[in-house]
Amino acid sequence: MASEAVLFFSLWLQRPLQIAAVSPSSSHLANAMAGLIDLNRPGLVLELGAGTGSLTRGLLRAGCPPDRLVIVEREPALADGLRRNFPSIRTVTGDATRLADLFVERGITRLCAVVSSLPIKWFSPIDQRRVVEPCLGRLGPGGRFLQLTNAFASPLAMNALGIRGACVAHVWRNLPPGQIWAYSAGDGA
Ligand SMILES: C[S@@+](CC[C@H](N)C(=O)[O-])C[C@H]1O[C@@H](n2cnc3c(N)ncnc32)[C@H](O)[C@@H]1O
Repeated sequence: MASEAVLFFSLWLQRPLQIAAVSPSSSHLANAMAGLIDLNRPGLVLELGAGTGSLTRGLLRAGCPPDRLVIVEREPALADGLRRNFPSIRTVTGDATRLADLFVERGITRLCAVVSSLPIKWFSPIDQRRVVEPCLGRLGPGGRFLQLTNAFASPLAMNALGIRGACVAHVWRNLPPGQIWAYSAGDGA
């Protein structure tokens, strides 16, 4: 785990806006995120921006079977580490703004939940839409797109995207403290 933290920090030094945190999320944050998921819903659990797998481990601890998880990470060095550490989880090295293609290529039609720790507040409105819309379309009624942020406001442009959302958890035992927002399709969707 120490070597993961070193890799994460060195990548943050190189690409601070992409990595967006100096260290991986804490187990407290991972447990809080996983506790917001209803695994009785059908479909896959999608994790976006899996990093070194801190939130992935929380999902596994909460009882999510590895074969229900699909994790996406853009940084090849991190994705390689995820494949080594979680050989039975489907790991995609790729850009979450290309999710629509990924869903078609992999035949993913139904999602139980989405867990995102992407630095999405820094994405353009177009890229936010490219991430969120294909997910909401596959989450179905009651499905939630869960987003980690350290901002004290919605990291997604709710009005522009036509979605609803609220902050559902504050986790202080993390560096920096994190908030979790839950989003769902707006009334018009
Ligand atoms: C704040 S870190 C979170 C890492 C890990 N989930 C955690 O909580 O410790 C954000 C992660 O999102 C990844 N990321 C950033 N932009 C991405 C994109 N467009 N597609 C996929 N992953 C991306 C980064 O490489 C980084 O690993």
